[in-house]
Amino acid sequence: MIIPVTASRPYDVVIERGALARAGERIRPILGDCRLGILTDDTVDALYGEALIASLAEAGYDAVKFTIPHGEESKNPENLFAFLSFLAENHLTRTDALVALGGGVVGDLCGLAAALYLRGVPFVQIPTTLLAAVDSSVGGKTAVDIPAGKNLVGAFWQPSLVICDPDTLLTLPEDTFRDGCAEVIKYGVILDGAFFERLKTPINSAETVESDLLDAAIARCVEIKRDVVNEDEFDRGLRGLLNFGHTLGHGIEKESNFTVTHGSAVAKGSVIAAKLAVELGLCGQTVVDEIVKILTDYGFDLSCPYSAEALYSAALSDKKRAGDNISLVLPETIGRCVLYKMPCADLLPLLKKVL
Ligand SMILES: NC(=O)c1ccc[n+]([C@@H]2O[C@H](COP(=O)([O-])OP(=O)(O)OC[C@H]3O[C@@H](n4cnc5c(N)ncnc54)[C@H](O)[C@@H]3O)[C@@H](O)[C@H]2O)c1
Repeated sequence: MIIPVTASRPYDVVIERGALARAGERIRPILGDCRLGILTDDTVDALYGEALIASLAEAGYDAVKFTIPHGEESKNPENLFAFLSFLAENHLTRTDALVALGGGVVGDLCGLAAALYLRGVPFVQIPTTLLAAVDSSVGGKTAVDIPAGKNLVGAFWQPSLVICDPDTLLTLPEDTFRDGCAEVIKYGVILDGAFFERLKTPINSAETVESDLLDAAIARCVEIKRDVVNEDEFDRGLRGLLNFGHTLGHGIEKESNFTVTHGSAVAKGSVIAAKLAVELGLCGQTVVDEIVKILTDYGFDLSCPYSAEALYSAALSDKKRAGDNISLVLPETIGRCVLYKMPCADLLPLLKKVL
């Protein structure tokens, strides 16, 4: 499957089993002759580094590789500058390009390096987590974290090509795969009720991960994200819908000292957002029940042992706050969400009611 994206830089998202072994031949028509600087993490490198380099060599590419330790802690300015220095030491020029092989951490960091190196070079995303396949590899948001917060230093920089090989997802730990499912379900809730229905057959079952159902689910998510990005590349309105479950989810991640994973926090945040929507009269209780049921079927723990005050204060430091107002993504029905702007002061009493 090939899904074209027409952002400021048009590119294709290729979703194809076995695509990793054909990465070189996919890249050649897009980038032509050049040298490539690969960024990956140690876990992904051990699994797929060799296969990528072999495929690039077969297509005639000379590639150099930089590996960071796996995990969110690696998405930092130190690794960004170490990678940039590595590229310079290896004499990559403006006609060369970068390749991100890994999950969202590698993709975000490599994308920012591509935006910055020599004032901008092309890059290719090869996502190897479900989250990266359905979300971070598409849309051109790149960033690193700084001590003051996540993703606070970044740029919009679209890739030139995205190559998703669903076979690489088969080696993901169960929890990491499930985390990605929270983002997949998010797309159904915000923009596609029929897709939400299809997801009731869980895509994280042993049979499904090896079947076309997983590929079709990834493709649908990419199409939805593509449509949102085509309309609002620079996040001035519609793109905010993709944050469903995230504002409260980020608060949960922070409160748990990041012991609750991102996807799990988004799942909990989604349920709280739906309950807030009921309180505000935007939707009925069935929307909450549907979201709780599907997330439970996917194996998410939806308990939330954090106080309203704690989530409120975390929400106040979220990027979605503007002055005295905060925007939350709230469902009206399954398949339709709105950006609901409210005075920050109104959020605490509402959270107290639903938690
Ligand atoms: N740019 C965007 O639009 C956007 C959107 C959503 C999330 N993000 C960012 O994405 C990041 C999270 O991404 P993630 O969940 O992919 O995390 P990640 O990149 O840390 O990957 C999760 C773990 O899975 C391992 N892994 C990756 N591929 C594997 C494979 N195929 N088999 C076995 N293990 C594998 C990694 O080594 C890592 O330990 C966050 O930093 C978040 O801010 C960005």
